[in-house]
Amino acid sequence: MKARDRLRIAIQKSGRLADPARELLARIGLSFRESRDRLFCYGESLPIDLLLVRDDDIPGLIAEGTCDLGIVGRNVLAEQAENRRAAGQAEAYRELRTLGFGSCRLSIAVPQDDAGQPASALAGKRIATSYPGLLEAWLRERAIDAEVVLLSGSVEIAPRLGKAEAICDLVSTGGTLAANQLVESEIVFESEAVLAGPPDGFGDERAGLAALFLRRLDGVLRVRD
Ligand code: PRP
Ligand code: ZN
Ligand code: MG
Repeated sequence: MKARDRLRIAIQKSGRLADPARELLARIGLSFRESRDRLFCYGESLPIDLLLVRDDDIPGLIAEGTCDLGIVGRNVLAEQAENRRAAGQAEAYRELRTLGFGSCRLSIAVPQDDAGQPASALAGKRIATSYPGLLEAWLRERAIDAEVVLLSGSVEIAPRLGKAEAICDLVSTGGTLAANQLVESEIVFESEAVLAGPPDGFGDERAGLAALFLRRLDGVLRVRD
């Protein structure tokens, strides 16, 4: 692969992690010139650029080497790692730091009338989710034979539509569940924002840049604790 002398970091373009990620980078001392399309930000203070993308695309961008580092929810990383494992693909990214924001959990939730039942009551039911890898691993570990229904969004309305008896989705404030008369019953996975990078380091000037970035990041994170 061609030697590169600038580091490229992928962050969420819009959504829960977008603003805190930008704030963190500013505190590290990075400043950027934004392009007209606002998808690429050129690093001015250091040769570190930003790519603004959908969070779900971040692990793949790191895996293929388009981006060097990424700020993403551990849930997205773990889901795609699970899918890679299932497809027999090698590990393609690694969690380098936890960042102390964006905490949430991937939970199973059921309609209010079914609240209070044990996990085993999910057997034979349909569970709608955008996280089939993590959910199936959780079900497998507990030997619960449920059907996983894949939905890419608006998972919380699946029970009302008669598409599933339960859902498995991210819960942060709990507002979405409450608005849909659903009750959290099981925590499948705990998540927060993390810095992700390739499993092995970089073989060119990016190695020094990544080390500098991590040093500065650690300084900022230490102050936060
Ligand atoms: C998650 C999840 C719920 C909502 C829960 O979606 O899918 O819709 O957040 O948050 P709450 O408990 O605070 O109501 P998110 O906004 O992360 O977007 P995405 O599903 O499109 O990635
Ligand atoms: Zn998303
Ligand atoms: Mg959502």
